[in-house]
Amino acid sequence: MYYHDLRINGDRLRQSLEEMAHIGATPGGGVKRLALSDEDRLARDLFIQWLKDLRLHVTIDEMGNIFGRRAGTYDHLPPVLSGSHIDSQPKGGRFDGILGVMGALECLRTMEEMHITTDRPLVIVNWTNEEGCRFAPSMSSSGVWAGALDRDRVYNQTDLSGRRFVDELERIGYRGTAAARHEPLHAYYELHIEQGPVLEREKRTIGIPKGIVCVHWYDIHIEGEANQVGPTPMEGRHDALCTAAEMILRVDDLPRKMGGNLVATVGEIHNHPNSRNIIPDGVHFTVDIRSWDDALALHAWDDLRDDLEGIAAARGCPLRIEETCRVRHAPFDEKLMDRLADAADMLGYTKLHMVSGAGHDAIYINQIAPTAMIFVPSVGGRSHVEVEETSWQDCEAGTNVLLHCLLQSAHNR
Ligand code: GLV
Ligand code: MN
Ligand code: MN
Repeated sequence: MYYHDLRINGDRLRQSLEEMAHIGATPGGGVKRLALSDEDRLARDLFIQWLKDLRLHVTIDEMGNIFGRRAGTYDHLPPVLSGSHIDSQPKGGRFDGILGVMGALECLRTMEEMHITTDRPLVIVNWTNEEGCRFAPSMSSSGVWAGALDRDRVYNQTDLSGRRFVDELERIGYRGTAAARHEPLHAYYELHIEQGPVLEREKRTIGIPKGIVCVHWYDIHIEGEANQVGPTPMEGRHDALCTAAEMILRVDDLPRKMGGNLVATVGEIHNHPNSRNIIPDGVHFTVDIRSWDDALALHAWDDLRDDLEGIAAARGCPLRIEETCRVRHAPFDEKLMDRLADAADMLGYTKLHMVSGAGHDAIYINQIAPTAMIFVPSVGGRSHVEVEETSWQDCEAGTNVLLHCLLQSAHNR
């Protein structure tokens, strides 16, 4: 049985997204729903309520990943999984992550309403801490679930105030008992906003990423020597902040220097003691390097590390480097990408093959199961900002594509 005419309810999807956007709403029209914060808890509580309203079987694992399972006719078969994340950046938007969770929910609501039973079970997921801005690394709980990251290492990560991941997970009541261990999956789909300018520029509705670039994170710690700024001569200073400044410009220059398809960013910096009349004696900053070409990203890092060591030595500031995260690039499943393209054609949406420059939980799930993503346009190509926007029409279109992909995969025994 197949349902070509079936469409999701765009108004209901919008209502759910709007209700979620109230949780952690910021004055600038975005959301602040940091992983394992009170806002994360409130959004999770609402999500679970909605899963229960659909009579889904809810499981919470030891990483706080939330699963809602809908039985299939052949319930022993590996399920089809779909979802994304509820957490956000400190000044994030109303669509990043949550669209993929609410989209999957809307698909299951539609199936329920139409009394559709699938051959395979269908599971919705909210992955804990996709963003990684409070607790590095990003995508940590899908990473543990997929067997790529160590649970205890993630548990012991601390935020800037020294709070541990595991204690915060416990505090918000989401340290579940199920093992965070992947089960056999038939397919994983993640609907997400593009977070870049390509779909809008090309005037297409549906993006089909061929995969996700590699994501490499580093933490750089520089030690300087503090002193009174007035009496201390410029010669012989060990200024950690000036050392960092020189380094940061090397990071910015790295893509040009490597001459390949690469981006490199410093997004976070902490200066100590951060007083206008003390020479800084400690700086911590982050480096993010991404490319489709893993070898190029590693080669760029080798080159940069040599530069950073040279600058540190020249300024007499000891350097400590942590390699915080290395996820290889994720080429998605050809068959699922074809299915996605067929669904977009059948629904009459324009489509574009592209690459994801943003990280997503799909990067880890891709390591253990056939995986694909559906992108919809980001207005002005803006994301991780309060003005992040995607039209309701495009949210609906992406969710319709997801619906038909889920139906196809869940009927494919
Ligand atoms: C996740 O949001 C990332 O791309 O860093
Ligand atoms: Mn996201
Ligand atoms: Mn994000």
